[in-house]
Amino acid sequence: MLSKEPVLARAHTNIAVIKYWGKADEKIIIPQSSSLSLTLKEFYTDTAVKFLNDLKQDQIRINHQRIPVSKKIMAVLNLVRKLANTKAHAVVNSVNHVPTSAGLASSASGLSALALASSYAAGLRLSKQDLSRLARHGSGSASRSIFGGWVEWQRGHDNHSSYAFPIKDSTLNDVDMIAIIIKKTPKKISSRQGMRRSVKTSPYYGAWKETTAKDLTTAVNALQNDDFRTLGHVAETNAMRMHALTLSADPPFMYFNGDTIKIIDLINDLQAKGVNCYYTIDAGPNVKVICQHCDSLRIKRYLSKFFNPNKIVISGPGPGAHLIQK
Ligand code: PMV
Repeated sequence: MLSKEPVLARAHTNIAVIKYWGKADEKIIIPQSSSLSLTLKEFYTDTAVKFLNDLKQDQIRINHQRIPVSKKIMAVLNLVRKLANTKAHAVVNSVNHVPTSAGLASSASGLSALALASSYAAGLRLSKQDLSRLARHGSGSASRSIFGGWVEWQRGHDNHSSYAFPIKDSTLNDVDMIAIIIKKTPKKISSRQGMRRSVKTSPYYGAWKETTAKDLTTAVNALQNDDFRTLGHVAETNAMRMHALTLSADPPFMYFNGDTIKIIDLINDLQAKGVNCYYTIDAGPNVKVICQHCDSLRIKRYLSKFFNPNKIVISGPGPGAHLIQK
């Protein structure tokens, strides 16, 4: 039964320490390799959904502005309609507490919140694993935001086997990520386009698949053995190898700007001074610094000498997607 009132769900972004970069199946989003992320408390999306039988088409508002239905949103809504056996269209209102399309994974929180709110509003009561599969159809990284804390998305080989799950027995739970927001404008090459070009044209793609599988094992072991240095180091290496796939594509492309390089330098300075901190960068110029909670204020203070402190946000681990109103 369709829910009479709008269903409101909240999902938090996640930042990958072992990156997903490339699809094996573009239609249902099966990745080329497994990935690992931390769900963050400070960045999230609230999405309200209501299905109406007499609506002619889906109505989508993001940050109070009406937008045409995107492919990502359509993928989730169509699957929900199929599962719930309904032809009703949806009214969707989504508010991002994340800078949209600036490499801070608003698609992860957005599509994950949409998966939970729309499935519930359509009368479905999906397990977390099924929600992860559903969110994956909208955006790969959204499959991980269904869960809180450290989360692995196992590659799998079909719809059933490709889903995310929380890492059991992680002893590294006092980790923060510091986001330095240097540019809010949407990126020129979407992650979807960027991945496609890297898979098709980078001569290093095969090597990436091999090393990223090893990196994942290293990172999960580090999480389970309270080994922050190993985790940070492998995250940094893995991120740079992902960006090597953009630089080695044909034609080449790059998500960094001048400020990105500047922050990498500053983190290298801090490392040289013995501070345990590491950087990671996604499909945009923003940098996220991985550190232990006890060091985050000190690192923020240092970065604030060079960047606006209001644009430097510290976040600890956050919860999985949840309903706020039903
Ligand atoms: O699922 P998408 O399209 O948001 O792609 C995410 C890609 C990266 O953020 C660069 C890496 C990752 O694993 O989140």
